[in-house]
Amino acid sequence: MKMVQVMAPATSANLGPGFDFLGLALDLYDTVTFTPATDWRVTAEGYGAAELTGRADLLVCQALKRVFQEVGQPLNGGIVHLDNRIPEAGGLGTSAAAIVGGLAAANHYLGDPLTKDDLLALAVELEGHPDNVAPAIFGGLVGVVQEAVTNENTPYLSMGIPFPAELQVVIAVPELRVVTAQARQILPQQVSLEQAVFNLARTGLLVGACYAQRLDLFRTAMEDALHQNQRAVLIPGFHQVIKTAYQQGAIGAALSGSGPTIIAFTPAANHQAVGEGMVSVFAQQGIKVQWLSVAVNQGGFRFL
Ligand code: HSE
Repeated sequence: MKMVQVMAPATSANLGPGFDFLGLALDLYDTVTFTPATDWRVTAEGYGAAELTGRADLLVCQALKRVFQEVGQPLNGGIVHLDNRIPEAGGLGTSAAAIVGGLAAANHYLGDPLTKDDLLALAVELEGHPDNVAPAIFGGLVGVVQEAVTNENTPYLSMGIPFPAELQVVIAVPELRVVTAQARQILPQQVSLEQAVFNLARTGLLVGACYAQRLDLFRTAMEDALHQNQRAVLIPGFHQVIKTAYQQGAIGAALSGSGPTIIAFTPAANHQAVGEGMVSVFAQQGIKVQWLSVAVNQGGFRFL
């Protein structure tokens, strides 16, 4: 029987001020292999393999089923293998990669009846917010909004934004576990006009800085008043890690998604110093951490 294999990229959401709007796809992947079957047989390797093996309730299975349901075909189960290379500590879009990997695999198996925009709608339905799933589908830096938030049935509009090619992405992944749902619960439901203006101005500046290749604007453009300070309580050393990234030559640094991963943008010559600098701050807090230098993914998920 036909087998489908899809690589779904890691993603870094928010990038400072673009809360629930901006996301960047990274050249780091979880791979889903899928063949329909009469029941579920799930195996896994890489991050989280022991907890994932044998489970039929995974997001990836829900996503596979959702596409079959959407096109009116039954799916009783599947032989699914997961090869997870995206660190699972949090902040790199592992749930979005599972959802997008499952949706893309099922869609491809069925002959690609759904467009990428259709997949985006299903992915947001499963994920709850759009800023990780959109770049995992389209690749690169993406801004995504729902046409009318008052009507949950309106489509999501996404826009690719040119990310400066000379920038290198450095991520520091501490051995802390931050669950997105909890990291969203600690955020206040009301913000001041001053905070709102702070973020919308910087989000505009960041998008403009990407188009204009104005790297000098990134540091200010990546400041945030809506979520990072509130979430810093979950990440010992957060402010010092950001400060050290800048001292070592980064031009921008922020919490990646809801953390605890931290993302920095740097000219290639500084990437080692930035990575090692961030690691040393976490180490001073007694926290184990790995740092990686990754390229930006272009094109989103891909088939093998
Ligand atoms: N925008 C989401 C949040 C992304 O910050 O909660 C989670 O990765």
